[in-house]
Amino acid sequence: MKILVTGGAGFIGSAVVREIINGSRDEVVNLDALTYAGNLQSVGLSADSERYVFEQVNICDREALDRVFQQHQPDAVMHLAAESHVDRSIDGPAVFVQTNVVGTYNLLEAARAFYLQLSEEQQQNFRFHHISTDEVYGDLHGTDDFFTESTPYAPSSPYSATKASSDHMVRAWGRTYGLPILVTNCSNNYGPYHFPEKLIPHMILNALDGKALPVYGDGLQIRDWLYVEDHARALLTVLKNGQPGETYNIGGNNEKTNISVVETICSLLEELVPNKPAGINQYRDLITYVKDRPGHDVRYAIDASKIKTELGWQPQETFESGIRKTVEWYLSNSVWWKNVLSGEYRLERMGSGR
Ligand code: NAD
Ligand code: TYD
Repeated sequence: MKILVTGGAGFIGSAVVREIINGSRDEVVNLDALTYAGNLQSVGLSADSERYVFEQVNICDREALDRVFQQHQPDAVMHLAAESHVDRSIDGPAVFVQTNVVGTYNLLEAARAFYLQLSEEQQQNFRFHHISTDEVYGDLHGTDDFFTESTPYAPSSPYSATKASSDHMVRAWGRTYGLPILVTNCSNNYGPYHFPEKLIPHMILNALDGKALPVYGDGLQIRDWLYVEDHARALLTVLKNGQPGETYNIGGNNEKTNISVVETICSLLEELVPNKPAGINQYRDLITYVKDRPGHDVRYAIDASKIKTELGWQPQETFESGIRKTVEWYLSNSVWWKNVLSGEYRLERMGSGR
C-alpha cells in the first residue's frame, strides 16, 4: 500500500510515519507544509527508507495537491495535517479556519478528483481516513459518562469547532460522493516528539529549567491520556480493517486531572533528575496556578469499546508506563527539544526532501 500521510512532520503524524516504515512493507508520502509545528527530525531514521518520500505542500494549495495525487498515485490518505493547539486557536482562529476547514475541503476535492479516475477495484480499496479529536463532542460534567461515536457534536473552542467542521465535510463527501471515508476521534495524546507548547512536554521542560509550571484555573480539568504510539497503531488498524463510512473513537481509559499529571511529572523528575536547578527544593514547588483558559473544557473521556470489540485494538501502555517513557525520552533527546526551543529546527528545512 502507498499511504499519503498529511501532517507527517507533526507529533502524531510522525508517529504514524515511523509505525508504517518500521512495522510494515507499506510506502509513505509525507505531505506537510512545515508550519511551526512541523519538524522533519521527528520522522527519525524512517526518512532514510526507500519507502519514504517527503512533499512540502500546504493543503490549502489545490494545484499542488492534484500534482501529488497524480505523481504518487496513493492507495489511501491519512489526514492529520491541522492546526492543533487550543490556546493558539483562541488567540488567532483565522489560520485554524484556513487549514482545518478550507484545507480539509481542498484535500477532499483533490482526493475525489483522483478517486474518480481509478478503476472500480481501485476505488473499492481506496480509503480517505480523517484523523480527528474527541474535543468535537464538547465536554462532560459528570464523572461516569463517556463520549461514544453517537454523542452529539458541541465544540467549545475555535480549534474544536474547525475540527468538527472538517469531520462533517468528510462524512458528507462519503455520503454524497461515495468516497470511502473513515473517521477517528481520539483523546489527548502524549509521548515522544510532542511540541513543547502542550501540557506534558511544557511541564517537563519548564521543570528541568527551574521555571514555573503554569496550571490553568484549579487544575481539576480531566483529560483521557493515550500514548502516541498506541494511537498510531489504532489508526493503522482502522485504515486496514475499518468499515468505510464508519467512525471509531480511540482512547486509553486514563482519566487524570491536570494537577495530578503535573504532580506525576514532578515525582518522576525527583527520581530521575535529583540534581535540580539552583534554588529549587522540590520540583512541585514550581507549580503555579494561573488564569483559566477561556471556555476551558471540564472533562473528556472516551468509550473506546467499538474499536476494541470490532477491530481488536488495545493500548499497550498504561499511563504509568507511558508517562515514565515520555519523561525518559525528553531526558535522553535534548537535541530534539533544544532545536525546537531555540527555533533552529525551522532553519533546517532546506533540502529536506528525498
Ligand atoms: P501537530 O500540531 O503536532 O502537527 C500538525 C502537522 O500538520 C505539522 O507537521 C504541521 O506542519 C502540519 N500542517 C499544519 N498546517 C498545515 C497545512 N496547511 N498544510 C500542510 N501541513 C500542515 O498536531 P498533532 O498533535 O500531531 O495532531 C495531528 C492530528 O491529530 C490533528 O488533526 C489533530 O486535530 C488530531 N488529534 C490530536 C490529538 C492530540 O492530542 N495531539 C488528539 C486527537 C486528535
Ligand atoms: P493541552 O495540552 O493544550 O491539550 P488540550 O487543550 O487539547 O486538552 O492542554 C491539556 C490540559 O492542560 C488542558 O486542560 C489545559 C491544561 N494546561 C495547563 O493547565 N497549563 C498549560 O500550560 C497548558 C499548555 C495546558
